[in-house]
Amino acid sequence: MQGRSTGFHATTRRRSFVLVGGRAEASGDFRLEDLPSTSGRLDVLARALRAGLLVSHGVRQDVVVYLVLRGGPKAPRVLRVEGAAAKFLRPDERSMAVLVQKALTTAEETADGFCVLRHGVAVAKGDLDVALEDAQPDVLFVLEQTGADVRDAVSLDAARIAFVVGDPTGFDEGTRADLARLGARPLSVGPRDLHAEDVVTLLANELDRRDARAACAS
Ligand SMILES: C[S@@+](CC[C@H](N)C(=O)[O-])C[C@H]1O[C@@H](n2cnc3c(N)ncnc32)[C@H](O)[C@@H]1O
Repeated sequence: MQGRSTGFHATTRRRSFVLVGGRAEASGDFRLEDLPSTSGRLDVLARALRAGLLVSHGVRQDVVVYLVLRGGPKAPRVLRVEGAAAKFLRPDERSMAVLVQKALTTAEETADGFCVLRHGVAVAKGDLDVALEDAQPDVLFVLEQTGADVRDAVSLDAARIAFVVGDPTGFDEGTRADLARLGARPLSVGPRDLHAEDVVTLLANELDRRDARAACAS
């Protein structure tokens, strides 16, 4: 089943994690048996996908994860997974990588928009701008070790919020400039330089804690 994206499944609140893979292979041409060496570190993005979308025995319905893939001849491409529509997601890195590989190898190239495959998985031609245009955040954050402390952030209760996270290559100057132009606010989850998937976990946890506090207060 393939088709053009008709927009998100209905959830009022939308939390988007946008993972930028500086060398991540966009073609699906990589070996599952040796993911780190053959895929431009898609293993990092696969783990971040799990961290953003899955809880124990469940999928976060209000989360959308975008992988911006900038490596290889088919780059740039964006892979999107919507929690509200996702099914049969398994938490191990290999299963996540299989999902990514299948999506990248079966998606038809469309001139514009996301090619929807199945169960909330879609692929689009394009770069970070395509992901952010789709996410349409009210508030945009770029995750940086030196940013404002997430524990002090007052804008995390916005209805549509997007977090842009780098991979082991970090952000290049062009990406930093693009994010600054879009008004992205630098946000830190702590004083140490962490792995991308751990950053996503800490963000999700901070949001969970705020949700729990808000539920108690209401
Ligand atoms: C492994 S780090 C990248 C390190 C890379 N060498 C660099 O200099 O940017 C991967 C990404 O996680 C995020 N990150 C790492 N530590 C963080 C922190 N303490 N707070 C917020 N984001 C962090 C950043 O988005 C970073 O690009």
